[in-house]
Amino acid sequence: MRIVMIGSGYVGLVSGACFADFGHDVVCVDKDDAKVGKLQAGGIPIYEPGLDALVAKNVAAGRLSFTTDLAGPVGEADVVFIGVGTPTRRGDGHADLSYVHGAAREIAAALKRFTVVVTKSTVPVGTGDEVERIIRETNPDADFAVASNPEFLREGAAIEDFKRPDRIVVGIEDERAREPMEAVYRPLYLNKSPVMFTSRRTSELIKYAANAFLAMKITFINEVADLCEKVGADVQEVSRGIGLDNRIGGKFLHAGPGYGGSCFPKDTLALVKTAQDHDSPLRLIETTVAVNDTRKRAMARKVVAALDGDVRGKTVAILGLTFKPNTDDMREAPSISIIQALQDAGATIRAYDPEGMEAARPMLGDVTYTRSAYDAADGAAAVVIVTEWDAFRALDLHRLKATMESPVMVDLRNIYNAAQVERAGLRYISVGRPS
Ligand code: UGA
Repeated sequence: MRIVMIGSGYVGLVSGACFADFGHDVVCVDKDDAKVGKLQAGGIPIYEPGLDALVAKNVAAGRLSFTTDLAGPVGEADVVFIGVGTPTRRGDGHADLSYVHGAAREIAAALKRFTVVVTKSTVPVGTGDEVERIIRETNPDADFAVASNPEFLREGAAIEDFKRPDRIVVGIEDERAREPMEAVYRPLYLNKSPVMFTSRRTSELIKYAANAFLAMKITFINEVADLCEKVGADVQEVSRGIGLDNRIGGKFLHAGPGYGGSCFPKDTLALVKTAQDHDSPLRLIETTVAVNDTRKRAMARKVVAALDGDVRGKTVAILGLTFKPNTDDMREAPSISIIQALQDAGATIRAYDPEGMEAARPMLGDVTYTRSAYDAADGAAAVVIVTEWDAFRALDLHRLKATMESPVMVDLRNIYNAAQVERAGLRYISVGRPS
């Protein structure tokens, strides 16, 4: 299959590289000259484990290339995926579809033969209809079908998620799109990944409903964690105890500082807006958004409480800045609100993150970035684990404590246990567990 991927951001680049690895011919298109130049020179603009090797292998095999020219490759493609960004629109919380619509216009002008145009970006219900309308209006002679094929990959595990998905969802209105879409995913049929064909609008909603449900699951366990602290129960045992019930499932029940990232915050908000617009409010998701928003600053108050209610003039070491491990992505990271709230309360911040410090710099004011977790802890009144990088899971706690001003660890990801930390002479505060 000849595939064109419009947009070489996270989803576009990972999907493009994985499709090429399946044996398809893939051209990734992006408007950003600098990004395309970097990719052509063998550089990868994002941090994602395994992606550099996958890209290099498929470029060398002649199956994957990068360009700023959209028209040439689209004219020869069997399937064109739109994988551009859909950020939150300023002011009203809706998804900003200007990049999707722009791509649709450019694709329309370049179509030469029957082509399936697929939205892979997360797009609100009805976007497929609009893309179809735009293409028809721009190029009345175009022969095409518009499909929806949302992506469910997680940052940090993107390649594995793409190649071994729990399911693939494809929404079509025109039967001519079925066979090309089956051909695109044929290698996964062999892996027995279920491919579900449905209507376009249903497919678009599945993506939002899935992310909203997961965000709600995390928020549920976070609130249960707060209750655990009040009643002297252990949230990790509660998670295990409920998660062993197959109807609930054990995943995404890890209590922490609240969800962040480029997807859950944006998608929950957009879904809430869509539901309100259709006079069919999703009250559970409205509450999820509100509870998660307040949680981040509440985590800062937890740190202040651990330091006897006063952090003025004290140094706090933050371990982990990115919204989760194995990424350099800082978007909506809980660390941002936590650090701001601690600074507002008068604390000085030293921070260390294995990959996120470069992206963090322009987002956070007045933070001292350090070369290691130990360096961050130097002179600190408390060490706060915000992101569960593997590098923080087996710290030499004696060494950490040695240079601290007061021996306090606040573990917002529950990666240690109290006995272990207290043995090293540190006070230990975690989330939803007896301290
Ligand atoms: C999420 C979904 O998991 C993917 O299926 C989806 O494709 C993607 O959004 C998207 O729409 O593109 P991602 O944002 O990369 O993926 O990261 P997750 O692993 O889902 O984590 C999101 C946030 O939830 C992180 O801040 C993480 O720390 C938090 N989280 C996750 C918890 O606090 N507890 C958990 O048990 C799980």
